[in-house]
Amino acid sequence: MSPASITQKYSTLSPSLAVGIDEPDRNLALELVRVTEAAAIAGGHWVGFGDKNKADGAAVDAMRSFLQTVHFNGVVVIGEGEKDEAPMLFNGEQVGDGTGPECDVAVDPIDGTRLTALGINNALAVLAVAERGSMFDPSAVFYMEKLVTGPEAADMVDLRLPVKQNLHLIAKAKGVKVNQLNVMILDRDRHRPLVEEIREAGARTKFIMDGDVAGAIAAARSGTGVDALMGIGGTPEGIVAACAIKSLGGVIQGRLWPTSDDEKQKAIDAGHDLERVLSTNDLVTSDNCYFAATGITDGDLLRGVRYNKEKVLTQSIVMRSKSGTIRFVDGEHQASKWEGYARKS
Ligand code: FBP
Repeated sequence: MSPASITQKYSTLSPSLAVGIDEPDRNLALELVRVTEAAAIAGGHWVGFGDKNKADGAAVDAMRSFLQTVHFNGVVVIGEGEKDEAPMLFNGEQVGDGTGPECDVAVDPIDGTRLTALGINNALAVLAVAERGSMFDPSAVFYMEKLVTGPEAADMVDLRLPVKQNLHLIAKAKGVKVNQLNVMILDRDRHRPLVEEIREAGARTKFIMDGDVAGAIAAARSGTGVDALMGIGGTPEGIVAACAIKSLGGVIQGRLWPTSDDEKQKAIDAGHDLERVLSTNDLVTSDNCYFAATGITDGDLLRGVRYNKEKVLTQSIVMRSKSGTIRFVDGEHQASKWEGYARKS
C-alpha cells in the first residue's frame, strides 16, 4: 500500500478506530536524525576555533530550521542555553510543521560547546522527543545530582544510599569486583568529596571535561568500559539522557540541586520536593520517546563530522523506546548543499 493510500485509509476510519494514529510513529526517529545531522554539520564548522557561542549559534540555527521540516507539532519544553546565556531554542518555542502528533521536545544542539570550541572528544548534537506533557518540568533548576547505570543494577541502586553501597550493588549485579568499576564523573571542584568517596570505596574514576549526555549513554550501555555516571550535571541533559535510557535499558536517577535561595524557592513554589529522587520514568513518563544524536567531535560513541571537498560525513545514533530499536546511521552528504552552513567569521 502506498503512503498516500495509507493516509487515505486512516482518514476514513471511525474516530474510535483512528485512535493512536496521531501518536508519534516509527518514522519520526529517522526524521529526527536529519535534524541532529544538520546541527552537527553546522556546529562542526567551528570545531577547534575557540568560540563556543559561535559554534552553539550555528548548531541552534540549523537545528531550528530543520526542525520545521519534521512532521510533528512540537513544543520545546527543555531548551538549553539559559545557564550561560548562550544562543538557544527557547522553552515554549513551537517546532515542527505543525501537522502531526503533539510532542514535547528537548533540544541540546551541542552537548559539549567547550569540547567543540577546543576540538576535544565527545561533543554531540542531541534531540529528544516524547508525547506531549510527558517530560519533567524542572522549573529552572539548572543542575541535578545524577546516578546512571546499566540494566544489571538498575533496580538495585538508589541515590539516597551511600556511594560505597551503590558501588557494591553495581559490582555484585555485574559480577565484578568494586576495583574493576569505572565511574564517569564531570571534572569539577564540586565533585571533590564524591571523588574521594568513590576512591575510598575502591572504585576508579574516569573524568570528562563536559558532555554528560554521552557519559550517561556510556554508563547505561554494555561494553563501553563505564559502569556508572555519578555527580552533578545539567538538568536538561538529565531529561535528554532519560529518553535515551528508556531505549537502552538501565536507569537514571536524579535529585534537583538548586544553586541559590532564589532557585530553591522557585522550585518549591512550583511544587517540587527537593529531597525527591526522580527516576527515568519521572523524568519522561511516556513509553513512546525518541532520542537522536550526531557526533560533532570524535567520541567513544560516535565519530565526529568529517568535511572534504565533495562530501560531509556524519555518524548518528537514533533510538525509539517503544520498539527498543537502536540504529547507527552513517550519513554521506553533498558538501555543495551545505555551503550555506559553512563558518562565517
Ligand atoms: P554545554 O555544552 O551546554 O555547555 O553543556 C556541557 C555540560 O558539560 C553538560 O554535559 C553538563 O550536564 C553540564 O555542562 C554541566 O554543567 P557545568 O559545566 O556548569 O558544570
